[in-house]
Amino acid sequence: MKAYMYDNVPGDQRLPHDSGREVTASDLATIGVHYRRLTETSEVDVLAAERGYKNRDEIVVSPDKMGAVYEDKVKMFFHEHLHEDEEIRYIRGGQGYFDVRNQGDEWVRIQLEKDDLIILPAGIFHRFTTDESNYVHAMRLFKDEPKWTPLNRAPELDSNDFRKEYVSQYLS
Ligand code: LAC
Ligand code: NI
Repeated sequence: MKAYMYDNVPGDQRLPHDSGREVTASDLATIGVHYRRLTETSEVDVLAAERGYKNRDEIVVSPDKMGAVYEDKVKMFFHEHLHEDEEIRYIRGGQGYFDVRNQGDEWVRIQLEKDDLIILPAGIFHRFTTDESNYVHAMRLFKDEPKWTPLNRAPELDSNDFRKEYVSQYLS
C-alpha cells in the first residue's frame, strides 16, 4: 500500500497521478478508511467473522476477462460515488487505485497490491481504477446479498442518512 495526494493533472486515470505528498495509514484512519496487509486467508476469515461478513466473491478486472466491456467498466468504477454499506476489497493479484475524499474534499490515492485489504466506510465518496497494467484480481466481502449499488455524487446525497452519519462521524 502506498497513499498520496492525487495530483489532479489531466490525463489517463490509470497513470499514477502522484503529487509526491504522502498520506499515511493513520491519516486514512482519520477519515474512517482502514488498511490491513493480510498474507493468510485465515486472517481474512477472522476479519470477516468479526464484522459479520458471511459471503465473498472474486472479480478479475482486465480486458482478457471482461472483453469489450472492460473500458466501460473502468470508466464506470471511476465515477465518484458512495455506498450505504462498507466496501471491503482484498487484492489477490495485480494492482489498483482507490481514490477517497479527505477532510478537505481533496482526492487521496491509495495504491493497492496483492495481500492489501481496504475497508471504506459507508458514506465516503470514492472511486476506483486499474493502473497501466490493466489487471487487478480482488476479493469482495459482503454480508448477505451483495450491495454494490453506487450512488453517484450529487447535492441530493447531502440528505442521505448514510452520508449524514459519515459526515457527522468523520468530517465535523
Ligand atoms: C465499487 C468500487 C468501484 O464500488 O468502488 O465496486
Ligand atoms: Ni464503490
